[in-house]
Amino acid sequence: MNSDDYHESGEFLDLFSLDAWQALRDPVRAALEGAAPQAGSIVDLGAGSGLSSLLIAEVLPDARIVAVEPSAVQRAALLCRLGADPGLRERVTVVAAGAQDAPLPDRIGGALAMNMIGHLAPDARRELWGRLRDRLADGAPLVVNAQPPAVPMEIPEAEFVRVRVGTHTYVGSGAAEPDGPGALRWRMRYRVLDHSDQLVREVTAAYRWFVVSPEAIVAELTEAGLHAVTGPLDVVRAVVR
Ligand SMILES: C[S@@+](CC[C@H](N)C(=O)[O-])C[C@H]1O[C@@H](n2cnc3c(N)ncnc32)[C@H](O)[C@@H]1O
Repeated sequence: MNSDDYHESGEFLDLFSLDAWQALRDPVRAALEGAAPQAGSIVDLGAGSGLSSLLIAEVLPDARIVAVEPSAVQRAALLCRLGADPGLRERVTVVAAGAQDAPLPDRIGGALAMNMIGHLAPDARRELWGRLRDRLADGAPLVVNAQPPAVPMEIPEAEFVRVRVGTHTYVGSGAAEPDGPGALRWRMRYRVLDHSDQLVREVTAAYRWFVVSPEAIVAELTEAGLHAVTGPLDVVRAVVR
């Protein structure tokens, strides 16, 4: 297995995330309230192709951003987004690492961990809360979302996104099965269909995902010394108590 979970799917992920980010925009914007860009950079953990970094840059026009992303394919999409925009290129630093290994600035003005927390095993997740707690400036938020399901379960294959590009339609679907305590194995299928819905290409990818509910995230963050509240779309906002 490739160690980059997004080696195959990285080609499609930005496209497939556009609608989700339309919905997440307002909850994340609201959760970023209190960010302190003057105190330190905003850290975007698992930044992917940069849709999250783009929103941070828009909401906090004076912020510097550290975008932490372990996948080379995703970083290629991210750098492509940054390279085309001189302002972003000036403000966003890309770090090739996982959230658990990334060197973080001593002081940070906020942190985002969107659509990625299931990549971390529970121990790594708790360790991350501690590292962020030690660095977050006064009142600066950590913003993290939980994605269903909250318990390991069998999920039959279902289509979750369909996007038209030129004469092709890109279709994303996925199924999951329990994969040990607290984890799932997602099996994703990405299909490219032509104008008459004939299959042009099919790519599959599988990765392990540690399930966690918003309530469990709030409990862990509380234990780590943060005050955490769940908002719309299971976006959790936490600040150091
Ligand atoms: C579904 S994407 C989300 C990307 C972006 N945050 C967004 O919401 O559009 C998940 C991202 O997490 C990254 N990732 C995987 N393992 C990670 C880890 N251990 N630490 C940080 N990011 C990780 C993947 O490479 C991928 O880019």
